[in-house]
Amino acid sequence: MQRLSLNQHQPLHLTCLSTTDVIKALLIMNPTSQTLTNDSLAASWIPIIPSSEVSKAKNIALGFIDGEELAIWRAEDGTAQAWANRCPHRGLRFTLGRIINGRLSCAYHGWEYSANDGRCAAIPAHPQMPPPRNVCATTFKVTETNGMIWASRSEPTSPPPQTNQTMFLRTLAVRAPRDFVAKRLVGQGWTQSDPNVLEGTIDGSNVTAFVSDAGNNLVLLHINVSHETGLAQVKKMHSALRRLRQEVETCWISEGEDK
Ligand code: FES
Repeated sequence: MQRLSLNQHQPLHLTCLSTTDVIKALLIMNPTSQTLTNDSLAASWIPIIPSSEVSKAKNIALGFIDGEELAIWRAEDGTAQAWANRCPHRGLRFTLGRIINGRLSCAYHGWEYSANDGRCAAIPAHPQMPPPRNVCATTFKVTETNGMIWASRSEPTSPPPQTNQTMFLRTLAVRAPRDFVAKRLVGQGWTQSDPNVLEGTIDGSNVTAFVSDAGNNLVLLHINVSHETGLAQVKKMHSALRRLRQEVETCWISEGEDK
């Protein structure tokens, strides 16, 4: 079987990369995952990734829940799945795998895991052997609303926050700590109705940013706008968002140098 080699020393130049490139680079560079420790966050819905980024029984996307890596995919019936990005066999990232017959198949030894309960359902090297019942992916609760996939460790008592801006525009990767980014945007007149939701104005248009903390001082802002936003305005907003990112990152670097 092919051996997989992960280079953890590859340089990352975020300003030159698309969001997809950034996430792929993180896949290589983050050697370990961080673990959620805040109980209040554990009981909340956390925005993970736009629904449109994950196709039915097709791709496995990388998401984050407060710095911990998740593998996001859809079962054959379209149900979204959020799993810890670690195969319980030897720990390879699930995002390197593929989906076969509605199951997630790990890229290393090909063990297959069932949707919803995460149980190991097949071991290709031992087709006659029943899979051990205690081998199970770590699964998270999932819901979908506002065009986003949300996850939680437990079953939150309230639904995710709502917004009037439900058209996904883009994901903006900002190289700064999550609290710093939120504080900076609130300082510019944005509001924070929820720890993971920021609302403001970009080039005169209202936007909602669903905040996903990727850890290692990287925040992903999943930007939503109104469905009435025209193409010309969308183009201008892309430019304005790039300027916003540069301003926040420059400020974070200069504040870091002052410390
Ligand atoms: S590490 Fe996933 S099947 Fe072995």
